Amino acid sequence: MKVIVEKNYDELSKRAASLLEEEIRNNPELVLGLATGSTPVGTYEELIRAHRERGLDFSKVSTFNLDEYIGLDGEHPNSYRYFMNEKLFDHININKEKTYVPNGKAQNPIDYCAEYDGDIERAGGIDIQILGIGTNGHIAFNEPADELSVGTSVVQLTKSTIEDNSRFFDSMDEVPKTAISMGIGSILKARKIILLASGKNKAPIMQKLLKENVISTKLPASLLLLHPDVTVIVDEDAYNI
Ligand code: GLP
Repeated sequence: MKVIVEKNYDELSKRAASLLEEEIRNNPELVLGLATGSTPVGTYEELIRAHRERGLDFSKVSTFNLDEYIGLDGEHPNSYRYFMNEKLFDHININKEKTYVPNGKAQNPIDYCAEYDGDIERAGGIDIQILGIGTNGHIAFNEPADELSVGTSVVQLTKSTIEDNSRFFDSMDEVPKTAISMGIGSILKARKIILLASGKNKAPIMQKLLKENVISTKLPASLLLLHPDVTVIVDEDAYNI
């Protein structure tokens, strides 16, 4: 794991976006894996700026998002499809048909999960996957557990994730309890991975991940230690305990 420590959130966002910009310029048909949550928002803002000010072209880029709440359709303001449209897709020249976010209203979620992995494969696999990290060490919605799914699957959210994510909802009761999430194997198949972590609330989990150097399904992000090309970009708040 390569670790880059940036002074603050703005610098972290600029660094992540410039890595992505370089990759898109080198390969205009890049397949990007995208994440939701607050952490990548600044990176998306910088990518929008790169599009507006430097003509960064997304017309041939495809994207695959990590996860979606079950029960929310793309029109729901708390759905991850809505989030991605609002925070990125509506402001760049991407072809929306090439933007994949799991369908939280799929008729048969289990079959749908296999289809989602198939879609990723048909697109040629993910070139670069952006990840955030939960305070409990989850990546996408792969929560700490005795076993982790390899492929995209239906997952139960833990109490701590429901609490963390309730800030986006009117009340805790409204937070969906299940989601569709790319599996750890789907994530590890990405050619490159960039993990972003910002803020003091991420310092304890980043300390564990970066300093202990052990893997455990109880810390899903630790499985990234097995990947040959992971760059972690942290700000000082998330790095120093
Ligand atoms: C959600 C998402 C994760 C994300 C995490 C952290 O649970 N499913 O992909 O990494 O939130 O979010 P934040 O960046 O807001 O801390």
